[in-house]
Amino acid sequence: MVHLRKRVAVIIVFALCCFIIFLILTVKGVFNNIVEDQIKERTKLKLNSEAFKNWKDPPVPVYLQFYFFNVENHLQVLQGERANVTQLGPYTYKQLRHRANVSVYNNASISATTQRSFVFEPTMSAGDPKNDLVTTINVPLVTLLQMLKHSGMVKKTIVSTLFTLKRSTLFQTHSVNEWLWGYEDAVLKLGHQLLPSIFPNSQFGFFYGANGTGDEKYLFNTGENDYMKLNEIIMWNGQKSLNWWPSNFCNMINGTDGASFHSLVKKNEKLYVFAPDICRSFYLTFEKELDVQGINAYRFVLPKEAFANDHPSNKGCCPDGICPLSGVLNISVCRQGAPILISPPHFYNGDKRLVSDIGGMKPNMEAHQTFLDIEPMTGIPVRAAKRMQINLHVESVKYIAQTGQMRTMVLPVLFLSENAVIDDKSAAKLRAALYTVNVVTYIPYVFLLIAILLCLISLILACVGWRRMENKDFTPVSLKMPQVERH
Ligand SMILES: *[C@@H]1O[C@H](CO)[C@@H](O)[C@H](O)[C@H]1NC(C)=O
Ligand SMILES: *[C@@H]1O[C@H](CO)[C@@H](O)[C@H](O)[C@H]1NC(C)=O
Ligand SMILES: *[C@@H]1O[C@H](CO)[C@@H](O)[C@H](O)[C@H]1NC(C)=O
Ligand SMILES: *[C@@H]1O[C@H](CO)[C@@H](O)[C@H](O)[C@H]1NC(C)=O
Repeated sequence: MVHLRKRVAVIIVFALCCFIIFLILTVKGVFNNIVEDQIKERTKLKLNSEAFKNWKDPPVPVYLQFYFFNVENHLQVLQGERANVTQLGPYTYKQLRHRANVSVYNNASISATTQRSFVFEPTMSAGDPKNDLVTTINVPLVTLLQMLKHSGMVKKTIVSTLFTLKRSTLFQTHSVNEWLWGYEDAVLKLGHQLLPSIFPNSQFGFFYGANGTGDEKYLFNTGENDYMKLNEIIMWNGQKSLNWWPSNFCNMINGTDGASFHSLVKKNEKLYVFAPDICRSFYLTFEKELDVQGINAYRFVLPKEAFANDHPSNKGCCPDGICPLSGVLNISVCRQGAPILISPPHFYNGDKRLVSDIGGMKPNMEAHQTFLDIEPMTGIPVRAAKRMQINLHVESVKYIAQTGQMRTMVLPVLFLSENAVIDDKSAAKLRAALYTVNVVTYIPYVFLLIAILLCLISLILACVGWRRMENKDFTPVSLKMPQVERH
């Protein structure tokens, strides 16, 4: 009997030890810390590391989809009627990103230029951009009008006559290709010949000159000294982030460029993304957890307040104290004075008046929301959609015959949807890496399991012994068992 008692006691001591190990590991978070350190180490931007390769040539394919708004009743609009538009598209381009001229410095920074090129994807498009025609506002003309807004009658009359001579009307029809990548504008051409310093070229296109150029210079943080700053932009085109823009503009260019984020993303964080096309950053906030190709991800979305005109971060976007309606941002300063306002597509989340002022707006969350699904442990974006609409502020201008009796309005011209989903190969790789991480974090529970098993074994042994010794004067060890287990 003494023999059995000893055996049970030894097993209980073992169980206790396992339980204590489990407690120490979980309370101290030993394995979590090891895992976090490993992740931090691996995601830092170091030459020739996996993270560096992915940063240099992001593996996730990005598709840029354009949708145009064709103005159906432009002659009536000039008479003062509400504009009716129909949506055309998508016209889809595969966006190839590459970072060139990479230099690594030993002060935790890395500089590079970002090059983008766009290749048309006919299978993902609704039409042919060479042949599909769109009628919309003449952007060079309204930009010139904006510049002449405070000029006198004589100047305006001369300009108006010039427009007439050049057959430049307020609404123009061009192919999708021309609107996007450029066409020669008669008025710009004349301006270029006479005043080349004001008119550097005679072409206009919303993305004119954007294909294959890499003139955007970035200085990034490598996360060497502070991993929370990993991939953050320190400088853009020689401009230091934070407060570099003239004080009359929304001056935020901090955050990452959206292709990569720091690891260990928290739900209560704001993720800042810099968008060079609008010369400012915006932030995304946590919405929910979801599954993307078997990977658990956090969804971050562009909050409604991003375009609210009473939000502090948009204070600078109201030049001369005049704010546009909530739901649009004035980015005129960053687009050579063109009266361009950006908004979510179809004025999603915007002031109801913006929607009702234009016939054909149908805002909806699925198609028009900007979101980012991010794997929180590694900070790798697994799916994303950035959606933005380009609108022009148009109004009737006295002495400019071309503007007729039109109403003052925010006219949507096009919207773009930049979409990316992790490819199967990268998803499999990420799943495997996360699996290893999960296995490691389960190690403490293995000790807990052993402790419980040992307790059960000793309980059984004690019971067996007790039954055998039932008639003798025996203090059953088993009675103490449950207490040990509950420790
Ligand atoms: C690091 O050094 C490079 C080259 O000397 C410099 O251009 C860059 O501004 C420095 N980075 C920071 C964060 O000061
Ligand atoms: C952009 O340039 C690439 C090659 O440099 C070319 O293949 C592609 O067709 C161009 N895209 C557009 C929209 O012109
Ligand atoms: C970015 O700038 C905003 C406003 O200046 C600030 O509140 C925020 O903390 C900054 N974010 C990061 C990631 O530096
Ligand atoms: C946009 O800002 C510019 C100056 O930056 C200003 O002249 C213009 O009136 C603004 N447009 C609107 C619609 O508020």
